[in-house]
Amino acid sequence: NKGKYEHYMQKEIHEQPESLTTTMRGRLIRGGSCKAKTVLLGGLKDHLKTIRRSRRIVFIGCGTSYNAALAARPILEELSGIPVTMEIASDLLDRQGPIYREDTAVFVSQSGETADTLNALEYALENGALCVGITNTVGSAIARNTHCGVHINAGCEIGVASTKAYTSQIVVMAMLAIAIGADAISNQERREAIIDGLFDLPNKVREVLKLDQEMKDLAKLLIAEQSLLMFGRGYNYATALEAALKVKEVALMHSEGILAGEMKHGPLALVDENLPILVIATRDGCFSKQQSVIQQLHARKGRLVVMCSKGDAASVSVGGSSRVFEVPQVEDCLQPVVNIVPLQLLAYHLTVLRGFNVDQPRNLAKSVTTE
Ligand code: UD1
Ligand code: M6R
Repeated sequence: NKGKYEHYMQKEIHEQPESLTTTMRGRLIRGGSCKAKTVLLGGLKDHLKTIRRSRRIVFIGCGTSYNAALAARPILEELSGIPVTMEIASDLLDRQGPIYREDTAVFVSQSGETADTLNALEYALENGALCVGITNTVGSAIARNTHCGVHINAGCEIGVASTKAYTSQIVVMAMLAIAIGADAISNQERREAIIDGLFDLPNKVREVLKLDQEMKDLAKLLIAEQSLLMFGRGYNYATALEAALKVKEVALMHSEGILAGEMKHGPLALVDENLPILVIATRDGCFSKQQSVIQQLHARKGRLVVMCSKGDAASVSVGGSSRVFEVPQVEDCLQPVVNIVPLQLLAYHLTVLRGFNVDQPRNLAKSVTTE
């Protein structure tokens, strides 16, 4: 049932304040006056000690689920102190990459039925790793075959393009980071700040959804383009990859997510006055580096669209030539949840304006059950 919406993707983008609330329900504990704020993940509480003892945490997934894990990687590294590595499921299998008994392997999948991810799970089980699932589908193969896990509870996702599952996956992995790090006094303040940020996140997403019309106007400007680059770094490298994936798969436009730190190692050669480039430059530890990236792109006459935090428009628009839009600022590790929303809207409007099928893009299936 699409309710008042024209497409499932549109509905699922707009219901994110609610899906995020459901994802967090019963899992965030804000104690009384002297009781600390904590996270309770029922499916993991008996396994946290084992996870803390592991030598490495390895995230395994495909497509959007991989991107969600990439967005959560920095906060997991920070709060757990454990090395976190990333694997695209098919690539791990192609290489038969090393997985050890001392590893915690985290399988991220909306459907819980993706063949590549399932095969990687079987492989990790054979190699003796602790296998943790993060999935949206109760009773799915990944939920059943992992040792333990967390359901993201985002509600049924029907559009082939994953939207609300992505933001709920990031939130679950941020909660996972807090749960794993909960035995360290040293980062208690940081954990509590993130928990406060999580409580307020649905409101911030509600606020950023108001950019709908602005994203539609932007889509009108980009409708006939051949290609769109997305520059991000740090917490928002994943945002760039995920935004590009959305534009590719539904709007059928070439798009590439680029790690801004790699700009001078190749991509800069593409920059001219014609190719549109979207730069994510919200406030975090990388902001000043991203400002200098904007200046360098501008010096090459790049056609820029910049996403920045509220009040920063003047600090990111060099010479007033780029198009800028502002998003609400949240705790740095949660910013990817806010930042992807306008880009989901952009991909959605581009698709509708270009006349393509939003919910069933050509050649794709919601759940990829073959290798
Ligand atoms: C569980 C109940 C929820 C109830 C809550 C009350 C289920 C599915 N969930 O939620 O309805 O409101 O208790 O305390 O009955 N698991 C995996 N792999 C996965 C995902 C989950 O093994 O990929 C396992 C977990 O380790 C856990 C079980 O499935 O044993 C349920 O996980 P989850 O729904 O996340 O647990 P709770 O949030 O505690
Ligand atoms: O169900 P999963 O999360 O395992 O699916 C993984 C990918 O197939 C999926 O995210 C795909 O990339 C989406 N269509 C992206 O929107």
